Amino acid sequence: MKITFYGHACIGIEVSGKHIIVDPYITANPKASHIDIYSLKADYILLTHAHNDHTLDVEAIATNTNAVIVSGYETAAYYGNKGFQYHPMNHGGSWQFDFGKVKYVSAIHSSSFADGTYGGNPGGFVIEGEHKNIYIAGDTALTMDMKLIPMRTKLDLAIFPIGSNFTMDVEDAIIAADFVACDKILGCHYDTFGFIIVNHEEAIKKFFDAGKDLMLLDIGESISL
Ligand code: NI
Ligand code: MN
Repeated sequence: MKITFYGHACIGIEVSGKHIIVDPYITANPKASHIDIYSLKADYILLTHAHNDHTLDVEAIATNTNAVIVSGYETAAYYGNKGFQYHPMNHGGSWQFDFGKVKYVSAIHSSSFADGTYGGNPGGFVIEGEHKNIYIAGDTALTMDMKLIPMRTKLDLAIFPIGSNFTMDVEDAIIAADFVACDKILGCHYDTFGFIIVNHEEAIKKFFDAGKDLMLLDIGESISL
């Protein structure tokens, strides 16, 4: 499984020969100006919620790739109504895709499109594929529901927002890492806007001091699991 950071909360995943893009917000992110969305392969686009900083480039990428849009019911159906391929899910449900199993899990946040359309309940994803398991928390507060995840899935990586203001901060993300029983964390949702600036060295040291590994990738940088 290959994981690529495309800035903000956008993640690329290559698993079982399939390409997945999570929460594409690239063309309006000045820090990601070197990423060309038309060069991105996508069989699936996974959306944690409808906010513009997670969905801005969905239609362009889906039009270019014919990717299937996977999200909570209301967010997925929003794209279905526009003629895109979609797969709606809801909290607690799993589906076996051709690349692996995806479970849509709860997140504490809100969800609406830029045009005001209700986006349903926001969520996160647990993805099991190629004998590796990852959890993408999406925009969320620290929540006790995270403790449910390791009851079913032994994680190899958790992707957490760390920027505070809209989501968990670094300290809460460290507690979240305990809750999901995963010591390998990829940080996201930081530095993109003025509200969510993070001191990288300080954040990495706080995780290190808690016996955990926080990775902050350059935009376009990949890791392999
Ligand atoms: Ni959001
Ligand atoms: Mn967000």
